[in-house]
Amino acid sequence: MSTLLVAFATVAATILVYRLIKFITRPSLTLPPGPNPWPIIGNLPHMGSVPHHSLATLARVHGPLMHLRLGSVDAVVASSASVAEQFLKIHDSNFSSRPPNAGAKYIAYNYQDLVFAPYGPRWRLLRKLTSVHLFSGKAMDEFRHLRQEEVARLTSNLASSDETKAVKLGQLLNVCTTNALARVMIGRRVFNDGNGGCDPRADEFKAMVVELMVLAGVFNIGDFVPSLEWLDLQGVQAKMKKLHKRFDAFLSSIIEEHDSSSKNLLSILLSLKDEKDDDGNHLTNTEIKALLLNMFTAGTDTSSSTTEWAIAELIQNPRILTEVQQELDTVVGRDRIVKEEDLTHLPYLQAVIKETFRLHPSTPLSLPRVASESCEIFGYHIPKGATLLVNVWAIARDPNEWADPLEFKPERFLPGGEKAEVDVRGNDFEVIPFGAGRRICVGLNLGLRMVQLLTATLAHSFDWELEDDLNPKKLNMDEAYGLTLQRAVPLSMHPKPRLAPHVYSITS
Ligand code: HEM
Repeated sequence: MSTLLVAFATVAATILVYRLIKFITRPSLTLPPGPNPWPIIGNLPHMGSVPHHSLATLARVHGPLMHLRLGSVDAVVASSASVAEQFLKIHDSNFSSRPPNAGAKYIAYNYQDLVFAPYGPRWRLLRKLTSVHLFSGKAMDEFRHLRQEEVARLTSNLASSDETKAVKLGQLLNVCTTNALARVMIGRRVFNDGNGGCDPRADEFKAMVVELMVLAGVFNIGDFVPSLEWLDLQGVQAKMKKLHKRFDAFLSSIIEEHDSSSKNLLSILLSLKDEKDDDGNHLTNTEIKALLLNMFTAGTDTSSSTTEWAIAELIQNPRILTEVQQELDTVVGRDRIVKEEDLTHLPYLQAVIKETFRLHPSTPLSLPRVASESCEIFGYHIPKGATLLVNVWAIARDPNEWADPLEFKPERFLPGGEKAEVDVRGNDFEVIPFGAGRRICVGLNLGLRMVQLLTATLAHSFDWELEDDLNPKKLNMDEAYGLTLQRAVPLSMHPKPRLAPHVYSITS
């Protein structure tokens, strides 16, 4: 009997102590406010078909720091500059990995790439390799002539395009950004660009990149309700596996056809496959393909579609286009094409590009991060494992930050304007198209330079007429959603050369 009593007392005491510990260690803070979740799927239905729009609408009700329950995963959404700064600057080290997701598993070689690599030594190695060999000041200078040659090619193709047929600008821009990057990474172009027309493989490649961004932008139920992953309810995982095979074939052929004596990023990566570098680093074939995949997907359509938005804004705003052209005519003249060295002398153009990145950030929800540990932000409890979404798009349209937030007004970034000192490089949190903190876009220098050079060249070299004499005021500016922000209706236009004719005959 006494043994039974002792056992009972022990169990009761254990339960009491357990409850006491739980009570003492309970988070004394509450989660940030947010919409009520549904059973099992939580707030997934709230994401809607264009999540950055839906989340912006929800933030107007629940505030700039919001909590959602996506299936069984906690998510927090930052929708103001000050909240974003808390996560990406003050608590950056706690949010420097990305959450698990099907895209990383099925497309990006099971996290063996740079974009999804967990924060740690392998991420550091891949990031260092690309930062040093592709995006450092020295590398950017070394490869300047390649970018200029590709832009000159685009200009000359546009000038000689069939006057009776409108050109699809986005597609040609994509060929240009892909070839410019490919020449640096693998030492050669990957697409032809016949007179004004395109390599059919380039159409296919852009479609693949856009499909990847659309799939990566879907809130895949299996990522948030792991017990349902095997059902692949939206068919996303099956599409990812199929797409991965197409990319893998493309990347494998690049590696097979590579001239190992050429000097470029791929040669450096391949040399690290066979032998370790001075720091003892070594790469596998899969890691090399995964890195190429990142560069060719994150680094091409982001820049080309931002340029397409910039040109669309200029066409819709003829006064601004005229000012850009006047600045270019003064600084560059009409007897040559724009060079990268000109860019620093074009403050109005620079303001136009900032304003384009503000209204049309190519990655509107940035890329998700994950909380490695629980933390406190603005008095709220952020649980360990929570996914962080930064609504870059909503922040850049926040009426508390921006006057007339929906209007395209480059002057706001010029001396005397409300944001004269603000830049897009991740230090001013009201406009962070490239993200911020230690996982900020590694290709920022290249992306920014390409968008500036392409927009300047297109505005300088041509006047533009919309297909079927469409009134610029009627131009459709709707967004189609993926992980990146595409135009719902691609720009279709007639380029009208405006420089001395000999300028357009420059090809490499
Ligand atoms: C208009 C141009 C571009 C925009 C707006 C853009 C935007 C972004 C954003 C928002 C992120 C996430 C940052 C974060 O988590 O805070 C990112 C990451 C990344 N971007 Fe870009 N990007 C652009 C161009 C490029 C280019 C040209 C490349 C390479 C050729 C590139 C490669 C990457 C990579 C590899 C990452 C992952 C970095 C990491 O996880 O450490 N991007 N980019």
